[in-house]
Amino acid sequence: MKLFENFSLKDFNSFHVDVKAEKFVVIESTEELKEFFDEFDVNKNNLLLLGGGSNILFTKDVDSTILHLAFQNLSEVQEDNNFVLIEADAGMNWDELVKYSVEKNLGGIENLALIPGTVGAAPIQNIGAYGQELKDTLFQVKYFDMSDKKFKVLDNAHCKFGYRDSIFKNDLQYKFIITKVTLRLKKNPEPTVNYGNVENELKKSGITDPTIADVSCIIRKIRTEKLPDPAKIGNAGSFFKNPFVDDVTFQKIKNDFPDVPSFRQEGKVKIPAAWLIEKSGLKGFRKGDVGTYPNQPLVIVNYGNATGKEIYNFAMSIKQTVLEKFNIELEPEVNVI
Ligand code: EPU
Repeated sequence: MKLFENFSLKDFNSFHVDVKAEKFVVIESTEELKEFFDEFDVNKNNLLLLGGGSNILFTKDVDSTILHLAFQNLSEVQEDNNFVLIEADAGMNWDELVKYSVEKNLGGIENLALIPGTVGAAPIQNIGAYGQELKDTLFQVKYFDMSDKKFKVLDNAHCKFGYRDSIFKNDLQYKFIITKVTLRLKKNPEPTVNYGNVENELKKSGITDPTIADVSCIIRKIRTEKLPDPAKIGNAGSFFKNPFVDDVTFQKIKNDFPDVPSFRQEGKVKIPAAWLIEKSGLKGFRKGDVGTYPNQPLVIVNYGNATGKEIYNFAMSIKQTVLEKFNIELEPEVNVI
């Protein structure tokens, strides 16, 4: 266990906002995690768990203790004719796990390439992209329950996954620390190519019978072209969730904008927030060092030295404009602290 005081979080959040944490504790094993809770008097009010910092916006210095899990082992725990169970530690970089699975031709997460963040953060918002969601592959989650200081296991069905949602954002909020994630990956994978322009991009590259490695590679290309690299331009991916509306609201919008894109999901209509922002005239809009990214306006970027407050205020002004134009309330996907 390593303890730092008055610690700058600039390199620990992908917006690169320069705020300080009163205490920053690096935990290197599950045993150390237990020791930490035995030794320190921490609870949900004075503790914050930080993974890769790729889905968080700090608007002020943090007076809570920040816990950062740095253990990152990976092991294949079980195998049959069709599947391999892979257990990865929470501190592992998500994309490293994707690369490992693709190299071994194990299918299920190849479309989730290049999503920033750690393995431990992935189940919380049920990460998803290009037609795959973590929930389709996740087998179980191991976590430390802060309320009774015990290690526990949840299988997929009990994680209550939904679009960018899980039990960890609801019933278990503030109570859990995910320590390990087990995935059930396919040994004879079928590639998922039916999202957006994936199939077209494959064809353009002359690939007609793609392997999962081809699909993963094309998705890396699409993401790199469309999304800003957080190492170069601060951002946390999509700032807002894509909103769901009922049929009546959707019909009203469709009357005014016949070309409105939409997806039917979970009994409602999902409208891309990127489209709402673009139609509100805010694609590429910039104020000082904050802006919507010109290639994908759902991503809010820090072009230089924007403060967390400036980024937050900018996001709220986007939300307000979209609300006035479409009467739809965008909800942040990023955690605002
Ligand atoms: N669109 C526009 N203008 C634009 C860009 C997009 O109108 O400039 C519209 C288009 O209709 C397009 C639609 O938005 O078809 C969807 O765009 P895109 O495929 O880029 O996906 P998204 O819905 O904006 C979601 C995830 C991303 C994920 C992509 C790809 C959410 C909140 N975001 O974005 O996840 O990479 O799909 O699957 O669900 C993240 O969560 O941080 C993230 C980047």
